[in-house]
Amino acid sequence: MQDWEQIIIANWKMQLNVQDSVKQAKQIKKLLDKNSINAATKIVVAPSFLAFSNVAEVFQNTRVVLGAQDSFEEDKGAYTGEVSLKNLQTLGCRFVSLGHSERRALGETDEVVNRKAKAVINHGLVPVICVGEPMKERQVHNSEDFVFRQLEKSLADIHIKEKHKVIIAYEPIWAIGTGDAMDPSEVGKMIQTIKSRYKLASVIYGGSIEPDNVHEFTKLKNIEGALVGGASLDAKTFVELIKKA
Ligand code: 13P
Repeated sequence: MQDWEQIIIANWKMQLNVQDSVKQAKQIKKLLDKNSINAATKIVVAPSFLAFSNVAEVFQNTRVVLGAQDSFEEDKGAYTGEVSLKNLQTLGCRFVSLGHSERRALGETDEVVNRKAKAVINHGLVPVICVGEPMKERQVHNSEDFVFRQLEKSLADIHIKEKHKVIIAYEPIWAIGTGDAMDPSEVGKMIQTIKSRYKLASVIYGGSIEPDNVHEFTKLKNIEGALVGGASLDAKTFVELIKKA
């Protein structure tokens, strides 16, 4: 099922409290109503779990769909502190980011990402598998090997049979939140390399994307969208970014 050509995912991380999340969602909704945006662009917002149901309510009957920043693989049980995929699904969640570098830094391994990805797929949702190299790997020209090692383990035993069922988000760690986006031509090369191995995966880029540079990335061959952190925290900036993508 081909229901989008390009996807823009807002990752709000742990930046907004519940009240501000709702306010931000309402502003985005209002601005999207006022602006004409390509119908083939899928817009996803991933709020914090605390704000998830409130934000889902705001976006009900709009074109914005909900994403989760993480999730646990089990539906129910004695798993203190975890969040059930099934419950998220009930609230309208369609996409689940896994293995974001900020989660990997807190101990999330490729093996955990792989288990969670399988659960996400089994629930009929779309995993957004985040990969990307740290600066020290880039400096020794090892970015590709590093990313492929992450992908091989994170996607072990997952056979992507259809388009849009698995998204790979390439986010070089050194480009996240630094204002120092990767050169688009370098992003293009990495996307090509990923696509040549994972032909049916949708590949997107994240790392210091702003309204002013978004099109440099979205116009690249084979790229299918963007994962946006900082620039998604202001409604006007985010909608501007979507318009320019
Ligand atoms: P920035 O857009 O703030 O660099 O964050 C990128 C990111 O981590 C999205 O998941």
